[in-house]
Amino acid sequence: MVHLKSSREIQKIRASCRIAAEALIKVTEAVAPGVTTLRLDQVAETYIRKRGGVPSAKGYKGYPGSICISVNDEVVHGIPGKRVLQEGDLLSVDIAVKKEGYHGDMNVSLIVGEGSPQARRLLEVTRQAMERGIRAAQVGERMGDVGHAIQSFVEGQGFSIVRDFCGHGIGRAFHEEPQLLHFGRPHTGWKIEPGAVFTVEPMVNQGGPEVRVLDDDWTAVTLDGSLSAQFEHTVAVTPEGPKVLSRFEDLPF
Ligand code: MF3
Ligand code: CO
Repeated sequence: MVHLKSSREIQKIRASCRIAAEALIKVTEAVAPGVTTLRLDQVAETYIRKRGGVPSAKGYKGYPGSICISVNDEVVHGIPGKRVLQEGDLLSVDIAVKKEGYHGDMNVSLIVGEGSPQARRLLEVTRQAMERGIRAAQVGERMGDVGHAIQSFVEGQGFSIVRDFCGHGIGRAFHEEPQLLHFGRPHTGWKIEPGAVFTVEPMVNQGGPEVRVLDDDWTAVTLDGSLSAQFEHTVAVTPEGPKVLSRFEDLPF
């Protein structure tokens, strides 16, 4: 069952998103060659707690970090640790925050320094894929329409969309219904209703779509070793259209 949110609940989710977005700013400011991913985790956790929030990921199904940092061929759920960032690394940084009982979730990819033209293009296509998905999230459309908008765009650009991880409803629970597959057929799936709040978070691989999970039981990497990027926003669907709860006029995401 999909829990449709009241405007009061949507405001709470937006407040948590605000903290996540500000923490993301702090993390991007700390990114530099020589910095460990654990340091970035500490920067995020410190900021989130200072703002009275809690990192949603911490302890979630035993997850050890406060945020996820997935580097280069890592697709999702990279655990912050001793890894030292290098010039040209492609990072996706995923931050989710809970405050006053409601979660907000977002993710951006960025490159340490300038990066290769291929990495920059992957990043741009992934961002656009997310935007197309968000735009398709309209009352009366179906989740399959959103997935199809994302998949057809990504594949048209010569990249592949990861199928093993999906977007999700969010609110009192970090992950709830509805599930958003980032691929699919038009006119299939749940018919979107006003008050639906879910994440749009496509993972796009330079090579094939297949992934495998490392021995840490979390980090998913591309099977072929190619680069992967991800962008994510938390979106509320209103009668006036999709409202991106994790986007703020004064912040760059
Ligand atoms: N934003 C990611 C998701 O929605 C973060 C997961 S946190 C983890 O799946 F604990 F599961 F890693
Ligand atoms: Co998410």
